[in-house]
Amino acid sequence: MESQAVASKLSRAAIFLVATVKDDKDSLAAVRAMCGDLAGFVRAVGFRDLDGGLSCIMGFGSEAWDRLFGAPRPKELHPFREISGRHHAVATPGDVLFHIRARSMDLCFELAMQVVARLGGAVTIVDETHGFKFFDQRDMIGFVDGTENPTGPAIDDAILVGDEDRAFAGGSYVIVQKYLHDLQGWNALPVERQELIIGRRKLSDIELEDGVKPSYAHNALTSIDGENGEELKIVRDNMPFGEIGKGAFGTYFIGYARSPARIERMLENMFVGNPPGNYDRLLDFSSATTGSLFFVPPETFLGDAGPAAAVTKG
Ligand code: HEM
Repeated sequence: MESQAVASKLSRAAIFLVATVKDDKDSLAAVRAMCGDLAGFVRAVGFRDLDGGLSCIMGFGSEAWDRLFGAPRPKELHPFREISGRHHAVATPGDVLFHIRARSMDLCFELAMQVVARLGGAVTIVDETHGFKFFDQRDMIGFVDGTENPTGPAIDDAILVGDEDRAFAGGSYVIVQKYLHDLQGWNALPVERQELIIGRRKLSDIELEDGVKPSYAHNALTSIDGENGEELKIVRDNMPFGEIGKGAFGTYFIGYARSPARIERMLENMFVGNPPGNYDRLLDFSSATTGSLFFVPPETFLGDAGPAAAVTKG
């Protein structure tokens, strides 16, 4: 089945909208109608800037899935599991995720406005984050972010459900977490210490060599292997965001994978530690303020979900 634009190129601008859906018949119908309408909205807004690369992904939380679509449901869809280890990964409400990406914010903003206007009172936006790319694809802590993302055919293999769940092949799972950084504390660390925490050189982005990289480095704890020793990859499209006046500087983490278990293992390693206690020191300077898991069904499923699908396009 044709996938949504999960494997879209990392973009310069993004809007992340997380919404809850009201529990009445009309609201549920409005969200289902949006499933059918979304591709048309993206075409209409995207056509106004041919080089803009506008895309939008729509994902659904576990409980919302049952209310909106019922059975069958994606095998591994469940509510985001809170983690309490050395640090705390909170679970926060989220029925629907819109991940809107484009080369410029005007496209993202216009699409978000149109989508939310059409949904009207059916949804409540519980989190809205406007993300931007910072110099050299760096995050707010000053490190290049995204380097080890898979490329080429390895992307689909990392993020698209396959034969393990035939009814939803071509779909993808996505976890989002909004992190706020203690930038003052972080910037007070010597760069060498920051490099040990991330596992890469800050200026050159070169990975620390074995023997230098500690087992608690972020990129050590998030490198995980499968049963046969193969590396289990995910695709991240993290975005810096912030509000200068409030002193709020953050990283919006978004990770796509063919199974949420991959991302959950990484989170476990970061928050609890591997082995327990050997946790991710990045979390001493970064607090997760949200946490939600969504399933991104294939494009064809979306198209068939809403009443708009019944309208023949001329
Ligand atoms: C505060 C939030 C986070 C920040 C600032 C951050 C930053 C970074 C940076 C700078 C790198 C190294 C460059 C790269 O390969 O992209 C990296 C790698 C990585 N991060 Fe994060 N990250 C954050 C949260 C997470 C979370 C929550 C996960 C997964 C649950 C994750 C998974 C990964 C993975 C898989 C890699 C690549 C590891 C490798 O194969 O070398 N990150 N991150």
